[in-house]
Amino acid sequence: MDIVSIVGARPQFIKAAQVSREIRKKHKEIILHTGQHYDPTMSATFFEELKIPEPDYNLGVGSGSHAEQTGRMVIGVENVLLKERPALVLVYGDTNSTLAGTLAAVKVHIPVAHVEAGLRSFNRKMPEEVNRVLVDRVSHLLFCPTKTAVKNLENEGLTKGVHLVGDVMYDAALHNKALAEEREILKKLDIKERSYLLVTVHRPVNTDSKENLTTIVDALISSEEDVVFPAHPRTIKFLKKYGLHDKLKESIHLIKPASYLDFTCLLMNAKKMITDSGGVQKESYFYEIPCITLRKETEWVETVEDGWNILVGANKDRILDAIKTFDPKGERRESYGDGKASKRISEIIDEELS
Ligand code: UD1
Ligand code: UDP
Repeated sequence: MDIVSIVGARPQFIKAAQVSREIRKKHKEIILHTGQHYDPTMSATFFEELKIPEPDYNLGVGSGSHAEQTGRMVIGVENVLLKERPALVLVYGDTNSTLAGTLAAVKVHIPVAHVEAGLRSFNRKMPEEVNRVLVDRVSHLLFCPTKTAVKNLENEGLTKGVHLVGDVMYDAALHNKALAEEREILKKLDIKERSYLLVTVHRPVNTDSKENLTTIVDALISSEEDVVFPAHPRTIKFLKKYGLHDKLKESIHLIKPASYLDFTCLLMNAKKMITDSGGVQKESYFYEIPCITLRKETEWVETVEDGWNILVGANKDRILDAIKTFDPKGERRESYGDGKASKRISEIIDEELS
């Protein structure tokens, strides 16, 4: 049976790499890249490094407002689906590519399987939260990474087609750990293990707000720690707009987005992680790196409950205090499965399509 997998943004390439390997054992997979991320460091690098098959289609939609971007994607995805008529559409996570793929598919009566279903921040100001709620409501198969996600769906009356499979990002971490350990990125940056803070920032609440971005930059500079900051293009755009870019570049290692293996190597060797990313909060937990999260809430509540993640928002005193004192040591539960989520997803899809 034919399956169309829809991807478009960095974390989706990482997730799809795992699931794609499994589903290709039994089905014909057609990869549709929406083109939401297009810089080589945000897209092509991941396909090459993670050996993801070349996309069969690239819609090349690029950047734009939510409506422009999502609208262009819905039209492009529909064209491909009408031509290919797959038995199933597979979507990942919570981006505009996820929403567009889902809308296009359900309207032409093609069932949707959602990987990473049931996540909720309960903050509807996040574009991702709106995408998650809508996608889950109309998906046929809901692959949940955590028990919390299953519960969230249950609370919204969604129980049909729900499967607790574990987290495909944990699969990716296990699959790639040894390769990441061999990377030479520390040598390239001339830094030593456990001597630096690793930072990523890309959520609109932090990047688009002059006040929040300035606060974060101030905190990083005044911490006097060595900082490595692989910056998302969105963040570079706003650092420049608010006149913060040159000041930050003088004080820290402000570098291009890292490849997945380089980033994993940087994370495994960091003193602490500072981030507003969803995926990176979990990866810090996988590698037992204390995570300071620049948000007020998280979907990945297990990381906080187990004491390995602290939510500080864009608050300078709280960020600096966490850099100095946050020192988790507690046990971590097996919150994100056993590294076989992708295999389980593929088996459930086989059953569904047989
Ligand atoms: C998107 C997702 C977010 C996810 C993130 C992963 C939505 C609403 N947001 O956010 O959930 O966490 O991807 O990284 O789908 N840009 C470039 N080159 C690129 C890509 C983006 O320059 O290759 C710049 C553009 O100025 C663009 C901005 O980054 O306007 C934002 O890109 P966009 O894809 O709209 O959202 P992200 O912030 O990347
Ligand atoms: N990542 C990467 N290079 C970077 C920053 C992050 O490869 O420079 C990886 C990271 O390891 C994680 C994923 O990108 O697997 C997270 O993506 P992002 O933070 O863009 O999105 P989110 O998870 O918040 O949706």
